[in-house]
Amino acid sequence: MSKPSDKYAQKALNRIDILRSHLSDVKAPAGRLTKLSRSLRGRKAIVTGAGSGMGRETAKVLADEGVQVAVLDLDEGRVKAVVDEINAVHPTCAKGWVCDVADRSRVKQVCKEVIEVFGGLDILVNNAGISVGGGAFDEDGSFETRWDKTVDINLTALVIFIRACVPALLKSDAARIVNIASTEHFVTGPGNAAYSATKSAVTGLTRSFAVELGKYQNITVNTICPGAIITDMTARISPELKESYAKRRVPMRRYADPEEVAQMTVNICLPASSYLNGTTIPVDGGMTIRHT
Ligand SMILES: NC(=O)c1ccc[n+]([C@@H]2O[C@H](COP(=O)([O-])OP(=O)(O)OC[C@H]3O[C@@H](n4cnc5c(N)ncnc54)[C@H](O)[C@@H]3O)[C@@H](O)[C@H]2O)c1
Repeated sequence: MSKPSDKYAQKALNRIDILRSHLSDVKAPAGRLTKLSRSLRGRKAIVTGAGSGMGRETAKVLADEGVQVAVLDLDEGRVKAVVDEINAVHPTCAKGWVCDVADRSRVKQVCKEVIEVFGGLDILVNNAGISVGGGAFDEDGSFETRWDKTVDINLTALVIFIRACVPALLKSDAARIVNIASTEHFVTGPGNAAYSATKSAVTGLTRSFAVELGKYQNITVNTICPGAIITDMTARISPELKESYAKRRVPMRRYADPEEVAQMTVNICLPASSYLNGTTIPVDGGMTIRHT
């Protein structure tokens, strides 16, 4: 029978093993000084809401980096336009699926199809979202409909996608889930209850999945919170209002181009971003750190 002191010594040795970096036994590839890859070539991704704005730019940045991209959106015309735009530069890189993210059985079917057609999956970008307003006062009785629709698209859909993709993602050596929330998680305005609530909830579900999946080592889950971005979602705000808002609220004094968010999303997807997990990252020109 081993002495108690032997047992503690063995436990301590086991702990030292855990404390060694998971890169300890990995060698830098020939011709390079460092071990982790900054290449996404050959990886496979799903981007939701990829027909416009940040989703479209994310699909394009991924394709530029050699990723096979599944372009998912509600609108068939938009899906085709983005697929054609990508494939004109990177032939056969993009494939399109018409998919309403609020339709749970369609989401499961599309995830299955993408994984079959691509032969696996490494990256899921949960980007589709809507902002339809609604607060304490309801003049046309539509608040509850708008609330339900926002929860379905901005929140529930993300969980359905993650659950449908996790079995395939666990087979990747560097799987990445990026959820797009909003600076509405940190700061908010009047009449935007469902949007603000769902975007805050996205950071919560991200953290829960990050903790649950962390033990598999190969998969990370993170949230990006874009600030004021020039897309269809903000098209109804006049240029004058955009300018005065940016001057008042954003230290960089401007709205962002959607590619500026897409580039950050893709940075998180690099195999080299291997220890970033469960975070909430604002991409907002400094908006949320400004005191007044
Ligand atoms: N634009 C901003 O200032 C801003 C700021 C913070 C966060 N966001 C978030 O960024 C994400 C992308 O927004 P964007 O600004 O690029 O908007 P966008 O309107 O340009 O693009 C959103 C895309 O999502 C698609 N979509 C909407 N409902 C869908 C559904 N049910 N199923 C499938 N696709 C659907 C639309 O067809 C559209 O192509 C959203 O989650 C949004 O909430 C935007």
